[in-house]
Amino acid sequence: MSVTETTPTQFLEVAMEAAREAGDIVMAGFDNPKKISYKSEVDIVTETDKRSEAAIITRLRNHFPQHAIVAEEGGGGSTPASRYVWHVDPLDGTTNFAHGFPVFAVSIGLVEDGEPIAGVVLNPWTRECFSAARGAGAYLGQKPIHVSRVAKLAESLLGTGFPVRKRSANPNIHYYGEFTLRSHGIRRAGAAALDLCSVACGRFDGFWEFGLHSWDVAAGMIIITEAGGKISDFAGGPYHPGDHVILASNGLIHKEMEALAADIAERTAKT
Ligand code: IPD
Ligand code: CA
Ligand code: CA
Repeated sequence: MSVTETTPTQFLEVAMEAAREAGDIVMAGFDNPKKISYKSEVDIVTETDKRSEAAIITRLRNHFPQHAIVAEEGGGGSTPASRYVWHVDPLDGTTNFAHGFPVFAVSIGLVEDGEPIAGVVLNPWTRECFSAARGAGAYLGQKPIHVSRVAKLAESLLGTGFPVRKRSANPNIHYYGEFTLRSHGIRRAGAAALDLCSVACGRFDGFWEFGLHSWDVAAGMIIITEAGGKISDFAGGPYHPGDHVILASNGLIHKEMEALAADIAERTAKT
C-alpha cells in the first residue's frame, strides 16, 4: 500500500485485521496457565503480551514498512523516522488478564505528525471492537457511537486508573477521593484503552489518569474525538499521546472536571 494514497480508513482496516489476530492470541492465552514475569514490583508481563505484540508488528511491518512502531513490550525495535507512528498496546489490562478478570484489550493507534488519525480497541472477551478513522466517525462494531449528554459532574459516571510503576509518587489517590464525592462514582476497571472507549460510547461521562503511555491512549483518543468528545490536559491545554495527565470527557462536564482538578491540586500542595 502506498503511503501517499492511503486514507485513515484504509490504515484502520489493517489495524483491525491486526487487532483481530492479536485478540485470538490473547484469548488463547487467557484459557491457559499464564507464565508471568515482573518488569518491576507489580508491573507484570506475560508470554501473551509478547506473542500478541509480535503478531501485530509483523502485520503492520508487512503493510507499512516505512512506518515507525512504538510498542509497549519493545518489539517495535529501532524504527525509521516517519511522520506515521503506530502505537501498540498488545494487551492493555495485563494485571486483569493475569488474575483472570476479563477486562482487557488490544489497542492499536496510528499517529500522523503527532495527531492520532486511526485507532482500534478490541476487547477479545466481549468481542466488542471500538474503532475510528479521522473524519469517518467512531464505531462499536458496525454501530456509530457518540459521547453522553450528561451535563453535570454531579450526575456523571467517571473512570480512572493507577499506574503500575512508581505508585506512591502518583497523586491520583487524592483526585480519586474528591471525584468520588462529587459524581455518581468512579470505576477503576484496569484497562485504560477500554476506559477511553467507555467515554466515547457514553458509558462514562469522563476519565482522567496520570502517567499513561502513548500506546495506552493513541487509539482511544481518535475514538473519543470522532465520537464528539474532548481531550486535554488538566488545565484545558492540548494533550499529546504520552503526556503526563489526560482528561477526556463528553465535553459538557470538561470545565467542571478541570476546575475540580485545579482545586484538588491546590489543596494537595498545601498538605
Ligand atoms: C495499564 C492499564 C491500567 C492503567 C495503567 C496501565 P497495562 O496498562 O491501562 O488501566 O491504569 O496505568 O499501565 O500495563 O495493563 O498495559
Ligand atoms: Ca496499557
Ligand atoms: Ca500492555
